Amino acid sequence: MTLDELTAAFQKLYGGQPRIYRAPGRVNLIGEHTDYNKGFVMPAAINFSTWVAVTKRDDSVVKIHSDIFEEDAEIDLANSAAHGRKHWSDYPLGVAIKLKEAGHNIYGANLFVHGEVPLGSGLSSSAAIEVSTGLALLDISGVKIDRLGLAKICQMAENEFVGARTGLMDQFIACFGKADHAVMLDCRSLESRALPVPDDVKLVVCNTMVKHELASSEYNARREQCEEGVRILSQHLPNVTSLRDVTPDDVEKFRAELGEVIFKRCLHVTTENDRVLKAADALRDRDLKTFGKLMYESHNSLRDDYEVSCQELDVMVDLAKPIKGVFGVRMTGGGFGGCTINLVSVEAVGEFTESIRNSYVQATGKQSGVYICSAADGAGRIQ
Ligand code: GLA
Repeated sequence: MTLDELTAAFQKLYGGQPRIYRAPGRVNLIGEHTDYNKGFVMPAAINFSTWVAVTKRDDSVVKIHSDIFEEDAEIDLANSAAHGRKHWSDYPLGVAIKLKEAGHNIYGANLFVHGEVPLGSGLSSSAAIEVSTGLALLDISGVKIDRLGLAKICQMAENEFVGARTGLMDQFIACFGKADHAVMLDCRSLESRALPVPDDVKLVVCNTMVKHELASSEYNARREQCEEGVRILSQHLPNVTSLRDVTPDDVEKFRAELGEVIFKRCLHVTTENDRVLKAADALRDRDLKTFGKLMYESHNSLRDDYEVSCQELDVMVDLAKPIKGVFGVRMTGGGFGGCTINLVSVEAVGEFTESIRNSYVQATGKQSGVYICSAADGAGRIQ
């Protein structure tokens, strides 16, 4: 959809001349399920965005239409619910409510959303709709808050209104993405460092077409298991307040007490943090071989220790691994379906795409989606 088409669709529904905002989806290169453990992540914003057209209303009603769901939803900010109703509109409307609860004077608005980020595929369409809506509502209400503040409010909407206890990674990168760079984020200090993606590789995202449900109990269950790990470990190691403070050796040492499941969860998080630090050095040195090796290790750890992969993701990794020009592959995002991220040399991308499409359908009977992505800038006003 072009900007003119979006404007026309908006005008047909609501009338008026809208402002337009966008926020990108993301792919995470390495550092999975570490953000809510105050660890390290390395996402990049991608060239698939959610677009929001908006005009101000004279009352306190926020109306929203999605072209993907072909559906409308609305809330009255003067009298809004505390929890979502398990509907796509919980994400954007939750942001409106949380902005209001944070004391910002948000106006009623008419919103039209056009989504390009594949839904439920681990590319963070949820943060893209949250951040683009947040920017749109703040701007038409004449309220200025810094981007980190916006990212945190969007996360709060997802945690408290939607009910998924996600970390800050997705909202952060939707706000702070940088073209041609991955961003390494320390989820404790919230310091970040942009790392150039070498121009001889492409970020190729392969969609298994298995939809995940992040708000599902499994994600929250992993988070609780990590909290239980911290509770047990902190009885022996008093300075431990999150898994960030723990090493893989500590986890091994208290294995019996942790019990097998919590042990494996803690092992994944602590080894994954180490991998992100090594991966950042490898990227700095343009050492793609080492980076790729760390990606495979990350996938195995997510599969075996954190247990958030699925058969189709494992198949997608195994099929990509031997293809010429592939440095590394792993599942990306929350898991239980969704996508893999493949680091592929530029000249091999054509053959890679063809090969993975054919072999995946043969192996699973399912079609895949293959997206050749570049690292993009974070959210902004477009018109
Ligand atoms: C989802 C969440 C993120 C993060 C990832 C797993 O994308 O929104 O906060 O926890 O899963 O790394």
